Amino acid sequence: PPILEGKQVNLHVQYGSMQFQAGGPTATIGINGNFLGPTVILNQGDSIQLSVYNDLDESTTMHWHGLHVPARLDGSPHNVIQAHTVWSPRIKVLDQASTYWYHPHLHGKTAEQVTKGAAGMIIVRDNQESTLNLPRNYGIDDFPIVIQSRAFDTNRQFVVNSADDHTLLINGTIDPILKVPAQIIRFRVLNGSTNRVYNIGFQGNQLFYQIASDGGLLDAPVALTRLMLAPGERAELLVNLSGLKDQSLDLFSFGSELPNGIYGAAVPGSMGVGSIDGYSANILNGKDFKLIRLSVTAPTTQAISTIPSNLISNKKPDPSKSSVTRIITLSTSGMGMGNLSGPFLINGQSFSMDRIDFSAKLGATEIWQISNQTAIAHPFHIHGLQFFISDIGGAAPDRSRQGRKDVVLVPAMQSVRLIMKLDDFLDPEIPYMFHCHMLSHEDDGMMGQFLVT
Ligand code: C2O
Ligand code: CU
Ligand code: CU
Repeated sequence: PPILEGKQVNLHVQYGSMQFQAGGPTATIGINGNFLGPTVILNQGDSIQLSVYNDLDESTTMHWHGLHVPARLDGSPHNVIQAHTVWSPRIKVLDQASTYWYHPHLHGKTAEQVTKGAAGMIIVRDNQESTLNLPRNYGIDDFPIVIQSRAFDTNRQFVVNSADDHTLLINGTIDPILKVPAQIIRFRVLNGSTNRVYNIGFQGNQLFYQIASDGGLLDAPVALTRLMLAPGERAELLVNLSGLKDQSLDLFSFGSELPNGIYGAAVPGSMGVGSIDGYSANILNGKDFKLIRLSVTAPTTQAISTIPSNLISNKKPDPSKSSVTRIITLSTSGMGMGNLSGPFLINGQSFSMDRIDFSAKLGATEIWQISNQTAIAHPFHIHGLQFFISDIGGAAPDRSRQGRKDVVLVPAMQSVRLIMKLDDFLDPEIPYMFHCHMLSHEDDGMMGQFLVT
């Protein structure tokens, strides 16, 4: 995707079309184009005038996922942009260098508008990150990778919330080949899928290093061969391709390694194992499949030669300062297939625009315990802040999940505890959202809202 950089960022949400399948076009919603939007580059400390032009014949919103902005500017279901109007929030960039994203968040319509293509990446840069020896030449050694899966109907149109997603789109492209230099490169990976979880890794167990999670750099690079990414999650990775000139290397999702404990128990008579989205047969479930082929070319002249051994030092909020532990349960009222089917509830309730679920005190440190009482994992997301994971099912998170986060995959029948600080943005009226980032669950009402007062 092209870059949009500067103090004035204009985004036009518009109808478009793409040729994904032989025989004819697919109707899309793009941002400044036909599918997905430009990568917005922001610098910490800057004041940015954002203008979102809704050129659609329907309402939308534009949410700055992960950014620390006031609730009235964060593009939630409360910040509706009517058809053919403009919304112009002015924000100050308070976030740490990392990879964020933007997408519509109109209640009941989020999955549909995102599925049709309305989403884009945000890269925040800051001084600390800039002094580290990391690849940061966009499109040369630093690549955005937006992973999405889609289902098409017989007229080649997108099917929203289908459990039969079978086509992978990487940055909107089917079966992509990316030319990359034979050196250390950086990937900014966003799972922009509505429901599917990926377990990414390279062909041949090629080692890679995770350097950032959702909302910032990790303390140090973490060497990995696999990384699970749930809907809404981001990770920045370094991979050293220096020995691979003129060869190719595939980035995969290793579905068959999906642990049942996270994905829910197998349902008799279904193909539920390995699938977070469906409880039905699906050709991607439990399978290994290619996401992108890297075709390795000559190195550039500015290649970095080593993976740094340290990055930044993250400061977790102190649990002894916490004034409240909120218990948030994820459950279902569904009868159909036991507790695998929705609608899914938070604290026994379905979302209401008019109900504030709780108020948090400005400046407070809080612990949220998210207890998943269902047989599938749910990616839980909180607006307006970054949290740290204290534990997952009683165990400390692995090092790749010890950084700043705004989405956490809560395993089936387990609890996670999060710690966060409500630093800014008192607002007694407009709430922040928290919800499952499987967009079908969110639209269905697996969402709540809180005020900072
Ligand atoms: Cu990316 Cu409330 O969402
Ligand atoms: Cu968000
Ligand atoms: Cu969910």
